[in-house]
Amino acid sequence: MAEALISVLLQNLASVTYQYGEEKVKLVLNAEKDVQEFEAKLKAIRAVLADAELRQVKEASVRNWLEGLTEVSYKMDDVLDEWNTEILKQKIEKQEENGGSTSLVTEKKMKSVCFSIPSSCFCFGQVHRIILHRDIALKIKSLNENLDEIAKQRETYNFRFTERIISEQPEREKTSSFVDESIIFGRDQQKEVLVSKLLNESSQEETGLLVIPIVGMGGMGKTTLAQLAFNDENVKACFGIRIWVCVSDPFDEMKIAKAIISGAKAVSPNSDELEDFFQCMSESIKGKKFLLVLDDVWTEDQRKWEKLKLPLIQGGAHDSRILVTTRKQEVADMMGAPTRTIYLERLSEQNCLSIFNRMAFYNRDKDGVLEAIGEEIAKKCKGLPLAAKTLGSLMRYKKARKEWQEVLNSKIWDLEEVEQQVFQPLLLSYFDLAPAVKRCLLYCVIFPKDHLIYKDYLIELWMSQDYLYLKGNMEKEIIGQRFFDNLAMRSFFQDFQKLSDGNIWRCKMHDIVHDFLQYLTQHECFTMEVKGGNNTINPLGDKIRHLTLMLASEGLLSCVSFSSYDLRTLATFDSKFKVVSSTLFSQLKHLRTLNLSGHCIEVLSEEIGELVHLRFIDLSKNPLKRLPNGVCNLYNLQTLRLYGCWDLESLPQSMGKLINLKHLYVGGCYQLKYLPKGIGRLTNLRRLDWCPVGGDDDEAFKLGDLRNLDQLQGELWIRIYGEVKVAADEKASPLGNKQQLSELSMYFHECRTSAEILNFLPPHPNLESLSIKFYNGSSAPNWIMSLNNLRFLALRDWNECEVLPPLGKLPSLETLILSSMKGVKKVGVEFLGIEKEKETSSASSCITLFPKLKKLTFDRMWAWEEWKGVEEWKEEDSHITIMPCLSSLKFENCDKLKTLPDFLWKTPLQTLVINHSGNLARGCQKGRGKEWPKISHIPNIKITGRLPFFSDDEGDVIF
Ligand SMILES: *[C@@H]1O[C@H](CO)[C@@H](O)[C@H](O)[C@H]1NC(C)=O
Ligand SMILES: *[C@@H]1O[C@H](CO)[C@@H](O)[C@H](O)[C@H]1NC(C)=O
Ligand SMILES: *[C@@H]1O[C@H](CO)[C@@H](O)[C@H](O)[C@H]1NC(C)=O
Ligand SMILES: *[C@@H]1O[C@H](CO)[C@@H](O)[C@H](O)[C@H]1NC(C)=O
Repeated sequence: MAEALISVLLQNLASVTYQYGEEKVKLVLNAEKDVQEFEAKLKAIRAVLADAELRQVKEASVRNWLEGLTEVSYKMDDVLDEWNTEILKQKIEKQEENGGSTSLVTEKKMKSVCFSIPSSCFCFGQVHRIILHRDIALKIKSLNENLDEIAKQRETYNFRFTERIISEQPEREKTSSFVDESIIFGRDQQKEVLVSKLLNESSQEETGLLVIPIVGMGGMGKTTLAQLAFNDENVKACFGIRIWVCVSDPFDEMKIAKAIISGAKAVSPNSDELEDFFQCMSESIKGKKFLLVLDDVWTEDQRKWEKLKLPLIQGGAHDSRILVTTRKQEVADMMGAPTRTIYLERLSEQNCLSIFNRMAFYNRDKDGVLEAIGEEIAKKCKGLPLAAKTLGSLMRYKKARKEWQEVLNSKIWDLEEVEQQVFQPLLLSYFDLAPAVKRCLLYCVIFPKDHLIYKDYLIELWMSQDYLYLKGNMEKEIIGQRFFDNLAMRSFFQDFQKLSDGNIWRCKMHDIVHDFLQYLTQHECFTMEVKGGNNTINPLGDKIRHLTLMLASEGLLSCVSFSSYDLRTLATFDSKFKVVSSTLFSQLKHLRTLNLSGHCIEVLSEEIGELVHLRFIDLSKNPLKRLPNGVCNLYNLQTLRLYGCWDLESLPQSMGKLINLKHLYVGGCYQLKYLPKGIGRLTNLRRLDWCPVGGDDDEAFKLGDLRNLDQLQGELWIRIYGEVKVAADEKASPLGNKQQLSELSMYFHECRTSAEILNFLPPHPNLESLSIKFYNGSSAPNWIMSLNNLRFLALRDWNECEVLPPLGKLPSLETLILSSMKGVKKVGVEFLGIEKEKETSSASSCITLFPKLKKLTFDRMWAWEEWKGVEEWKEEDSHITIMPCLSSLKFENCDKLKTLPDFLWKTPLQTLVINHSGNLARGCQKGRGKEWPKISHIPNIKITGRLPFFSDDEGDVIF
């Protein structure tokens, strides 16, 4: 931990400048010299850190020394940040005085710390500032002295100097090279035993609910085995309800009850009483045969267990099953199931080697020598599948034989003190990471076990802790992506869920990896379970920097004399409280990351404005009506998450002061009529998920203000409410400069001028996804046809539109949804993008229409009667190709539609769905229908809904 922290601190120290504007100002008490000395000492210490980090695993005195060093480093980092913030504050205040909005220049390099006093200070004689500056200089001086002490102590340890060259820049890896599958070798037999126990073991003596524990040490693959059984087809068929709950520690009965209730598709009671939940749970499974998996159970508390089991026995069918995975024999004993327990033994060497090889040699040529070394390394896994996977992933990065030998001969294998065997390979992998990446990994310990980790969130969190720091000008978000990929490929993450573009969206962490991180961070990160009416954080050790609160219930969150003044992260999970005491804020001055999402907070106190170091606030899903104005003084703020604050009516006017804000999430804040005007000054903004526009209020953010936000990325929703004026002199589109915006949705609400507005909003041609809803023009804006990269298009509720735009010309379109276009009666060649006579008859050039289209959906086209293709299609017309990739076609609620176009029979359609479209259903009757010849080649045809003309049945007819 220290090594990573110090590398970043050294970078921060190196970027300290003593310049403000043009003037160089001497700081009181010679802080400049102190900083330089501090830096020099730290550099000397850094050279032995690798050795020290390794030795601290064994030697307590080294650990203490490192802790002292960490402490001083953190304090120095805080002081630098304090100074930085002070400078920032002065700049912003000055700009505000000068009329703010217009004069504010983008501050691209706000990073560097400036040691100076702007001359204006002296002019206005702001005494308190000078005191503050003196105070900071004193702190630096005293920290410098502390470091002296530590540097002297270093001599006594005789550390080795290690020349470890780990490039700061992690290797750029192709995402396509992920090996993400739960590879399973050598567990077939156990799976069979387990499945048969689940399906048909029933002894005479025992009636009712059977509990089957799987016991094995960490990393042995208990969860994987349980998953195999859970997803087995026979098991699926046998149990009406299957529920998976990750229990972990603490044992939370409420969570289990909720999971069962929702798994049984029942509704949770409107209560906080556990008894009510148990009763509801019991009813929800009444008479049903269920399979409940309780993954990773730790509790040995018999009473808790019986209390949970009783309603399950009373409710469910007799042959229901509970499958429990645990590392502790005592848990299995407590559950009284000794004979049914499945013990998971170590894998054979051969199976371990298979896993190892699969990871290590993925996408890589075989090499006899490496394989021989690999065999030896695989033996070190001692039959633990997770160890084999981790080591295999580590070796994928090692190209030279020497590097393989080094791993085989590593000293880490001799560390007997390491708590669990599986930690050794993890340690090896961990020590192989660049310092900054190490810190990113360690930070993940703030999440509870089995938490779904969203990649974008995680990167924002890393940013807030200033972990994403590299020389050069690379964007932090990009660095974060690299770090994430790096960790993912080394198997520190798992259970990846990907987006359509192949990028990882979210993932989880193996519980052993979580244990491992806890082991490494035990003095810095702490997870606390809070119980009781009012939630009070008790004094913690003063080295704790990141605190996670779990299960805090309703009431007030406060703290008793917070000794941990240096807390940098406060995160809350599975908690619900109403009030955050204002003293909490005034005691946590160094907080950088605050997550209070999902509580019942209606009012937040102004004191939050004192947390000037805050970079990240998550207040999502709270019933807040407004934010305190104090938030606008958080000049370091980078991320503000207000997602799903349904009651939020307005944002503070001065938000334009938050010049470091990069991510603002207000999606789902439907009471917000408009954003404050000042948002238009936040030129660093990268993500804005939702942008309500409406009214002519001077204080409101207007469509034209979007032009300034040219860095916007990802997805943007614009809601336009009522009549919005578009200035006649606007020439450039406010969206045209957003090269990185990939998804755009526009939604009009009670807006008669939507056609005029939309014309004024052409996006950048890089756009990939577009949705437009409640548009009231009679034809589409011309710019749609120039979106050459568009892959997804949805047009909904275009009430005045009678003729479809020539979408066949869009070269990249893959998915098209046309919905609720009440005026469309006929669709013809204009939709394909050709003019009938001219182009079909001239056989000169080949054209392909809808060249990439895969999915086409029509929905609620109430007036639509006919769809015509190229009339009298003949084989000879082969110079026109239409929809050569079409694989799925769907009609829903197109009641009047009778005809399909002739070209359909030439498309490679795989699926045709006709739902609540009676005329078409009749025309498509197998063999008999008029349209049948056009669709007879399609393997999956599904016709559902009312079929009035040839059947009285209501229901599904599947051909
Ligand atoms: C249990 O099921 C397995 C296969 O699922 C079958 O081979 C075995 O005979 C069954 N045993 C009993 C006692 O029904
Ligand atoms: C919680 O704190 C509030 C305010 O201090 C107090 O009114 C209330 O009685 C406390 N509730 C409990 C259960 O202690
Ligand atoms: C914040 O907390 C909520 C609920 O406690 C959690 O779901 C979410 O992942 C957390 N967000 C971040 C960025 O940690
Ligand atoms: C759509 O726009 C026309 C003018 O172009 C207007 O007359 C009509 O009322 C609008 N319809 C709706 C539903 O706003």
